[in-house]
Amino acid sequence: MDDSALIEKIIALKEEKDAIILAHNYQAGPVQDVADLIGDSLELSRAAASLEGSVIVFCGVDFMAETAAILSPEKKVILPAHDACCPMAEMVTAEEIRSARMRFPDAAVVAYVNTSAGVKAESDICCTSANAVKVVNSVQEDQVLFVPDRNLARYVARFTNKEVLPWEGYCIVHDLITVEDVTTANQDHPGTEVIVHPECRPEVIDAADYVYSTSGMIRHVCAGNKSSYIIGTEIGILYRMQKECPDKSCYPLSGRAVCSNMKKTNLSLVLQSLENLSPLVTVPKDIASNARNSIERMLAIM
Ligand code: 13P
Ligand code: SF4
Repeated sequence: MDDSALIEKIIALKEEKDAIILAHNYQAGPVQDVADLIGDSLELSRAAASLEGSVIVFCGVDFMAETAAILSPEKKVILPAHDACCPMAEMVTAEEIRSARMRFPDAAVVAYVNTSAGVKAESDICCTSANAVKVVNSVQEDQVLFVPDRNLARYVARFTNKEVLPWEGYCIVHDLITVEDVTTANQDHPGTEVIVHPECRPEVIDAADYVYSTSGMIRHVCAGNKSSYIIGTEIGILYRMQKECPDKSCYPLSGRAVCSNMKKTNLSLVLQSLENLSPLVTVPKDIASNARNSIERMLAIM
């Protein structure tokens, strides 16, 4: 079946099953095209908590679908690519948080949303790349254990008086972007703004002009008065950026910045998942209830 036939079937089945399709900004172009909402982790979490419909088809990775299942227990949440995971989310476990709490009894535990439901359940509050600074500044404690992204933790530490203890996790996609990539991009496109994601290394952030979440980048480019931009994040974002800001030229900071897990979802899998209402994502009730507290504390902040 070609893409247009797949899209036609998906749209019809979506109506029939009372489903909404959510897609992260890194998803492949055709998947973004069938989505009801495309966004960053914060926007997608808010959507999962508030949108109508009995089924959510989550085109992203597992922790995002889990977050949707936690926030909308009355809905069926489907992850079309059952093995789409986030390697960074696997760099910290619930057991490790429990033992870290003994080492740092005075610290608040702030969990990046890129974590398992079990880790969220052991944490005090969640954050995303869009609100991490606000979340850290919102906690009572003077010390914060920030898991699992060491790069985001160090970025946040620049904007708070709190002592931020970074966990040793990282995103395998953003961590491979180097200062040399910034130098090369500046040479290839002189005078062009460089925008990077806070999951990038500190020295890359120092070399960039702006730091934003994925949707923050899109807003910055669409509202900006420059004709071209260099984008330091996963390259899937360029599809939406070019679609929404066709008058701007956007170049990837690194062509190697590809998240293979975000690329596992395709139109055939979306169609199959709607036909079968599977793979279903579920979270055990006791874990879901504690994890929901951490996520809702975050959503209450802004
Ligand atoms: P955003 O919340 O900025 O979209 O980031 C999600 C992510 O996985 C970045 O790698
Ligand atoms: Fe995880 Fe990085 Fe992929 Fe985002 S880009 S889902 S943080 S591996």
